[in-house]
Amino acid sequence: EPVTEAAPQDEALPKIPLFSDLPRDAFIALFERCPLRRFPEGGRIIEQGTKGDAFYVICAGRVRIVRQTGAEQRDLAVLGEGAFFGEMALLSGAPRSASVVSAAEETQVLEISAPVLASLSRRYPQVARALRRFCRQRLLSDVVN
Ligand code: CMP
Repeated sequence: EPVTEAAPQDEALPKIPLFSDLPRDAFIALFERCPLRRFPEGGRIIEQGTKGDAFYVICAGRVRIVRQTGAEQRDLAVLGEGAFFGEMALLSGAPRSASVVSAAEETQVLEISAPVLASLSRRYPQVARALRRFCRQRLLSDVVN
């Protein structure tokens, strides 16, 4: 029966709220199209101040968002499985606002390039809306903190 056959595969797919509205086929196509990158604990995924040409969805593990201001270094957040990061530079064209470091033995992230995001956003405007909403919230919390 197709339903029982599909179940174990779905179990293996990470739960990603950002993509919860995507049809299953589009979700799987995204995983086929985008590279899955693996980082050991301490591995640096994003460097503050650099140019951004992709954003990342956490498929396993977790990351620390670290802001360097002069000599001072501060943790802005810890993000786990299903969360995403790196959307701010993509949406604004500004340099990376913080560094992102693997905080688990192995962190796996799906790397979604700007052109893939553009075509995804055209087909599924709710993805672009959700990204913009998060970007705004993070900008506000960065100003406050
Ligand atoms: P970007 O500026 O491209 O690169 C660093 C990323 O860290 C940024 O996008 C956000 O995804 C993330 N980030 C920045 N500030 C916060 C915050 N306050 N909470 C969670 N994530 C953040």
